[in-house]
Amino acid sequence: MIAEAVRVSPGWLGLREPADAAARSPELVERLRRQLPPRDRLVIHDLGGGSGAMGRWLAPRLSGAQHWVLHDRDADLLRLAVAGPPGPADDGAAVSVEARRSDVTRLEPGDLAGASLVVASALLDMLTAEQLAATLRACTATGCPVLLALTVVGRVGLTPADPLDARVAAAFDAHQRRATPEGRLLGPDAVPAAVEELRATGADVVVRPSPWRLGAAHAGLMAEWLRGWVVAAGEQDAALATEADAYRDRRLAQATDGTLGVTVAHADLLVLP
Ligand SMILES: C[S@@+](CC[C@H](N)C(=O)[O-])C[C@H]1O[C@@H](n2cnc3c(N)ncnc32)[C@H](O)[C@@H]1O
Repeated sequence: MIAEAVRVSPGWLGLREPADAAARSPELVERLRRQLPPRDRLVIHDLGGGSGAMGRWLAPRLSGAQHWVLHDRDADLLRLAVAGPPGPADDGAAVSVEARRSDVTRLEPGDLAGASLVVASALLDMLTAEQLAATLRACTATGCPVLLALTVVGRVGLTPADPLDARVAAAFDAHQRRATPEGRLLGPDAVPAAVEELRATGADVVVRPSPWRLGAAHAGLMAEWLRGWVVAAGEQDAALATEADAYRDRRLAQATDGTLGVTVAHADLLVLP
C-alpha cells in the first residue's frame, strides 16, 4: 500500500530544477565516476525521483549506457519523468527510463536488485527517523554507491536582513519537524541522522554543501519559496500570523525588484560501501 501524503507540485519541481542543478555537488559526481565499475549498462535507481530532475542532471555527467528506474508514490510526477527523460550519457551512450510507483520507505530486498547506483534527491528531510532507516537499509543492502542529494539542513540566509527572519526560520524548521501519523519528520535533522545510520554500517560517507544561492535571476523561484516558507512558519507559530503577511509582502517586493538575496543550505552525501 502506498501512503497518501502531501503532494509535491510539478510546478514547484519545475521552478526549482535549474537552482537544484546549480547547487548539486560536482565534486561528489567526480568521486562517484571513479567508483562505478565498467559495465555494459548502469542500472540507476532514483528514490523519490519525482519528475526526473536528478536523472536529467546526472545522466549526462556519467559515461556509458544507463537505465534509470524512478521510484515515486506520485503517478503524475512519474508520468512527467518518463515524458522528459535525460539526454544521452557524456559519451553519447543511450539512457532509458522506467517508472515504478512505490513507497520508497517500504522497499523489498528484490526491488533494488542489480543496481549499479542508487540516488535520491530532496527526499530525506521528508521522512521520519524510522522511514529514513528503512530506506537507507534498502540502499546499503545493494552494496553499490549511493548519492543522496539536496537535503535541507536548516540554515537560511536572507539579505538584506529583516528583524523577523530568525523567527520565521525557526518556525519553519519546527514545521519541518512536525508530527505526522507516521511519526515526527526529520526535516533539518535528516543529514546527521543519515550520516550516523550509514557510518554505523561501516560505509564511507562524504558530505558536501549544495546550497541554493538565489538572486535577481531567480525571482519566480524565490517568490514561490518565500510564500511556502512563510505559510509553513505561520502554520507552526500562530502568534506569527499577524506579522507574517506584512513580512511576506516586504520580502516579495524585494524579490520582484531584484534586491533580495536568499541562500538555502543543503547537503549532498556520497555513500561508498
Ligand atoms: C521534493 S520532491 C523531489 C523530487 C526529485 N527527486 C527532484 O529532485 O526533483 C520529493 C519526492 O519524493 C517523493 N516521495 C516522498 N516520500 C515518498 C515515499 N515514501 N515513497 C515514494 N516517493 C516519495 C514525492 O512524491 C516527491 O516526488
